[in-house]
Amino acid sequence: MTTGLDGIVAAETVMSLVDGQRGVLVIRGLPVEEAARTLDFEGVLALLWDGFADTADLKPRLGAARAAAFRHVPRLLPAAAGLPPIDGLRAMIAGLADDAPNKEGDGTPLGLVAAMPVFLAALVRLAQGKALVAPDPKAGHAADLLRMLAGKPADPKLARALDAYLVTVSDHGLNASTFAARVVASTLAGAVASVTAALCALKGPLHGGAPGPVLDMLDAIGIGAAAPGWIKAELAAGRRLMGFGHRIYRTRDPRADVLKSVVAGLSSRRIAMAETVEKAALVALHRHRPDRPLDTNVEFYTALVLDAVGLDRSLFTPAFAIGRVAGWTAHILEQEQSGRLLRPDSRYVGPQPSLAA
Ligand code: ACO
Repeated sequence: MTTGLDGIVAAETVMSLVDGQRGVLVIRGLPVEEAARTLDFEGVLALLWDGFADTADLKPRLGAARAAAFRHVPRLLPAAAGLPPIDGLRAMIAGLADDAPNKEGDGTPLGLVAAMPVFLAALVRLAQGKALVAPDPKAGHAADLLRMLAGKPADPKLARALDAYLVTVSDHGLNASTFAARVVASTLAGAVASVTAALCALKGPLHGGAPGPVLDMLDAIGIGAAAPGWIKAELAAGRRLMGFGHRIYRTRDPRADVLKSVVAGLSSRRIAMAETVEKAALVALHRHRPDRPLDTNVEFYTALVLDAVGLDRSLFTPAFAIGRVAGWTAHILEQEQSGRLLRPDSRYVGPQPSLAA
């Protein structure tokens, strides 16, 4: 019996195909490489929502929804202040009221997608003791996040890189957070509860919490030449290398290459060193576990892209959520449409009651 539900099909979906053997990711018919090259965040959202929600004029409607979300900040921010950003984001999202479906309100998929960058930027600005920056409804979603964080218009090159990142991570089969969202959606608890559940699942280092530790690892290694020795000691101590290994991929995670090419177009002081570390890690992991293919995952180059666009490492998991909420909401809509409660079985292996004499 498998304890991680490996290989179990829990949902039929039109959202994305993850072929772990071939290292292929298809998002509603588009290879991830093409999606990241040709779409912005609003484009991938429209692609994922197509047939499940209104996708007409999505860019202005999303901009207007960001402005609407900003009106909730004074009410929701105090309870979230001081928490780590991913926890603060979860607390603020959980504070939105569920709306009836098909309305354009705050607790709908549109309202939730819009609220994520607005709430995150408010949390960051408050923690920095800076004035909050209201959303610009006319800006692109990615550019507006950078603008609200920095308090000045985003560099178009960095906004484009962030857009490519958000598209790349927008959906990925039935990963842990998407599964959590679908389980809650299947109870008809609503989009706010479902996205809140997804945020809880994303936080862990085995899922979305890895890219911050990737940078910690690069910092600890210091220079490329130190990588083989550092990695050897880490594996000998029984620790895992962050940014490597994947439950599904038995080869390279295709998203790693998409993001590697994104970061190559930016001036990242870490990229050359990271490439050296990656090579040393792959050699060491193969030696460590010759029976188990362990290759680079999306988080390795995520760390470099998000660092290069100017995000602090404490914001990496929230940034992942800002992209993945496109997939979460699409899956929530798809699950709700299916109308079927997700309720797997367990096998009892505990003690049996003793039979009365
Ligand atoms: N470094 C060292 N050893 C590893 C690594 C790694 N990164 N990943 C797996 N292994 C080893 C495990 O220690 C395990 O060995 P054992 O059988 O002796 O205990 C073996 O490979 C199999 O590991 P599992 O945990 O069964 O593999 P699983 O498929 O469950 O793990 C996971 C996938 C959680 C991503 C794992 O590879 C890992 O912990 N990686 C590091 C964290 C990371 O990068 N997370 C981000 C994932 S990508 C994402 O969520 C978007």
